Amino acid sequence: MPHIIAPSLLSADFSDLKSAVRLVDESPAPWLHLDVMDGVFVPNISFGLPVIKAIRPLTKKVFDVHLMIVRPENYVNAFRDAGADVLTVHLEASTHLHRTIQAIRTAGMKAGVAINPHTSVNALEDVLADIDLVCLMSVNPGFGGQQFIQRTYQKIEALVDLRKKTGSKALIEIDGGVGTGNVQQLIHTGADVLVAGNSVFGAKDPARAIVELSA
Ligand code: DX5
Ligand code: ZN
Repeated sequence: MPHIIAPSLLSADFSDLKSAVRLVDESPAPWLHLDVMDGVFVPNISFGLPVIKAIRPLTKKVFDVHLMIVRPENYVNAFRDAGADVLTVHLEASTHLHRTIQAIRTAGMKAGVAINPHTSVNALEDVLADIDLVCLMSVNPGFGGQQFIQRTYQKIEALVDLRKKTGSKALIEIDGGVGTGNVQQLIHTGADVLVAGNSVFGAKDPARAIVELSA
């Protein structure tokens, strides 16, 4: 399967989101990554439902919504209505994670589970067969432009094994510090989806950056 690049809107110019979405729309990236932060689960506040709803008509690309919020189960249908295709919640933020996963799928979306750098992939064992995506945080969530945590490579390897063991078909997404310097090694190790914020929107030529990451 060819890898999926998911540019993250978090690093785009918020005063001109339309241009940023159009740039992704015209690029080879099949997904757009949308980081929702509540200032409680993470020490930052980004954007939420109205923004996602407003940009939905601008593109048919897959909306990959990453919820960094507490009690994500309360907002499943709201994010579906706003236009999410993939809805990812944090394992650390959902007490009844299995129920949340069921709710996401029942709502007609793909279900993703994200884990922080300190969380072992083994914590996913009992839900792995029931989800469509695992988001391995390769930085501490909350901000774009942080340094990639090297330990992530071992977590990918462990997750590939666990995926085999559980019969799961979940995609492995890497989120944080991804750029041209590590994208090939991440794919080689087993990553399927690569989120790229700063390495796309912080680049002189973001369209070209997406092309390079997609190669
Ligand atoms: C961080 C977010 C990431 C962020 C990645 O909390 O989940 O999606 O946009 O940004 P970069 O690619 O700049 O590390
Ligand atoms: Zn993210």
